[in-house]
Amino acid sequence: MDKIKIRGGKVLEGKIFISGAKNAALPLICASLLTDETVTLTNMPMLSDIKAMNLLLEQLGTQINEFDDFVDGHATKTYSYRTRTIKSLVAPYDYVRKMRASYYVLGPLLARYGKCELSLPGGCAIGARPMDIHLSSLEKMGAKIEIRNGYIFAESDGRLKGCHIIFPGVSVGATCNVLMAAVLAEGRTVLENAAKEPEIGDLAKMLNEMGAKIEGIGTSVLTIDGVSSLHGTVHKVIADRIEAGSYAVAAAITRGKIELVNARPETLRQPLQVLKDMGVRISETDNSIIVDAKGCRLVGKDIMTEPFPGFPTDLQAQFLALMLTAEGASMVTETIFENRFMHVPELLRMGANINVHGHASAIVRGVKKLSGAPVMATDLRASFALILAGLVAEGETTVNRVYHLDRGYEKLEEKLKSVGADIVRIKNDEED
Ligand code: UD1
Repeated sequence: MDKIKIRGGKVLEGKIFISGAKNAALPLICASLLTDETVTLTNMPMLSDIKAMNLLLEQLGTQINEFDDFVDGHATKTYSYRTRTIKSLVAPYDYVRKMRASYYVLGPLLARYGKCELSLPGGCAIGARPMDIHLSSLEKMGAKIEIRNGYIFAESDGRLKGCHIIFPGVSVGATCNVLMAAVLAEGRTVLENAAKEPEIGDLAKMLNEMGAKIEGIGTSVLTIDGVSSLHGTVHKVIADRIEAGSYAVAAAITRGKIELVNARPETLRQPLQVLKDMGVRISETDNSIIVDAKGCRLVGKDIMTEPFPGFPTDLQAQFLALMLTAEGASMVTETIFENRFMHVPELLRMGANINVHGHASAIVRGVKKLSGAPVMATDLRASFALILAGLVAEGETTVNRVYHLDRGYEKLEEKLKSVGADIVRIKNDEED
């Protein structure tokens, strides 16, 4: 397995181009299953999760073409998806096990073909993550759902039926899945207590470009008037707010200055406010956010994760690392996932001062210094928190299990190197 080695202590300065959002791209790819015409996605990030989703769609029967492309002078990928005839309606265990977001095929396949067999994803490193909200909502729309041998067997007799659904909890995944099912359902579906994450807005926007009738985009009530078919489109994936937030912290933690090109400030209001409250200077241009912490003395700040527009759980670990370099104490409260402090024991090995209380909160106290160590994390965002700690630690930090990072951070070493980090990837066969 590859490792990343970092020598800490560099002040990062320069520009980083923010890629297309993984969490938008994954449901957008699955939305292509809703039509027999071609859906072309531009500004796609080059990530292992995208490759995994493409493999899943190919085995369902989707024809995929890949093109090199440029967005604002930066190399990206464009993919076109066409599902004329379906080969399989099964999302097997091996795909879902590797990538939970495989469950986004459920809504589209059920809506267009009236059937889907999906392996149940099960729990993961950050929590139990059940699918009850997805399933009960689809049942309300007329789907018959059975769970056998670790699989969800979902079937619908004719088109799904529009109905009024009040989600019992705010779920990004359930909102996307049910939205994709509702666009081809018969009649009107109203989704209340829907998640409002920008990636859902991007999905709804693309579905409307394909001929869907969705109103209330960006609010917690989505009204969908079902149509009998959708057509193809060309859609540009929105910028990744979590990647942008992660590099904003890289600037702050090294007391550097980074311009996040293509980042969208309206998707990051809470994290940017936290940075400002801590003492970081934030400014915006037409197409970028400038994070300037040069010469700043940062102070601690309490944060609590919440559904959008609240503070994102996917930036909790990174901000927790930042708090270690601020004066005073900060309380970090996690309300979305029940097991999302797995980075803490690794940070403690680097000299951090953190007390975790139960599963929900941690008190983080600023320390004079962190020291480099070999570390590893159990999930994507936690791994980035260890990279951040490594950027300011004295000496060398080796982050193991880099495959987590490859799921969600495109060209990570290249981007950090371009702003002055001393970082290198050690390939599996080069050492061990
Ligand atoms: C998505 C994101 C993930 C992010 C999370 C919260 C993708 C691919 N992943 O994950 O990066 O951290 O949103 O912003 O976009 N829940 C249930 N029953 C359900 C569904 C969810 O109890 O049927 C619970 C979950 O266990 C969790 C909470 O609801 O505690 C929020 O989960 P959800 O918003 O669904 O997260 P994901 O869509 O899995």
